[in-house]
Amino acid sequence: MLKRLLSGFRSDEPIRDTDRDWQIIGETEPFFGVLTADRFKRENLDEDARAEFFRSGEGDINHFIDRMREIFGPFEPRSALDFGCGVGRLTAPLAALTGTATGVDISPGMLAEARRHPHPGLRFLDAIPHEPFDWVVSAIVLQHIPPERGYDIIAELLDRVGPDGGATIQIMFGRTVHHENSVGARLIIDDEGGVRPPRPFRRRRKIPEGVMIMHDYDLSRVVGLFYRAGLRRLYLDHIDHGGIVGATIYARR
Ligand SMILES: C[S@@+](CC[C@H](N)C(=O)[O-])C[C@H]1O[C@@H](n2cnc3c(N)ncnc32)[C@H](O)[C@@H]1O
Repeated sequence: MLKRLLSGFRSDEPIRDTDRDWQIIGETEPFFGVLTADRFKRENLDEDARAEFFRSGEGDINHFIDRMREIFGPFEPRSALDFGCGVGRLTAPLAALTGTATGVDISPGMLAEARRHPHPGLRFLDAIPHEPFDWVVSAIVLQHIPPERGYDIIAELLDRVGPDGGATIQIMFGRTVHHENSVGARLIIDDEGGVRPPRPFRRRRKIPEGVMIMHDYDLSRVVGLFYRAGLRRLYLDHIDHGGIVGATIYARR
């Protein structure tokens, strides 16, 4: 049964314009686009839901910095880059922790929402700036960018890690379930077949614009990018987002 549910991708599918999807999501549902629970939809987003949304960002950043320190020892970043910052859920607690944080996002709607609460030490940009950061963070972002583009973005992000800096970056590389809006399943991980490449399948309908798409990355290639950037100490925590499986990669020089 499970085997029949698992599937792969059509190799001749064109690379999707995910920037267009995120422009639409940023204009229509910026909070739900980040955390897909009904209480974060525009029509339901009351003060409690908003507070819960931003508290979750503080929790994530506290977890990431704790892991960086547990794994690598003392780490006191004084600047941070948050790639794919959305409405600033992680950028704000990063600024509180480091003093200065820069959020970068492709979606004007997300950036407009993020800039609604200006704060010293916090800035939001539409492109990765050419400057070093003590800590480069990207969570629940790269899976939404086709890896054909994503590998170059990862290289650019790692290039911005300062001399004594570190990186915390999430990628997905496989799945245990079929996902309707999958265009790049790379590995199927299940009890019956073990770990194997997916079987090609033909999509029955075109995925409409403005839908979040999931992409898997080649972990070896990603690890190679860390190696090339001189980030030679890596640690992986597995993550599983509803059957989409990946890792939070913690890295230091
Ligand atoms: C699921 S949201 C995560 C937001 C934020 N990282 C968080 O955890 O709150 C994904 C974000 O990535 C952004 N994004 C997607 N493609 C991007 C790209 N090519 N460059 C920069 N940001 C991108 C989207 O606009 C969206 O804000």
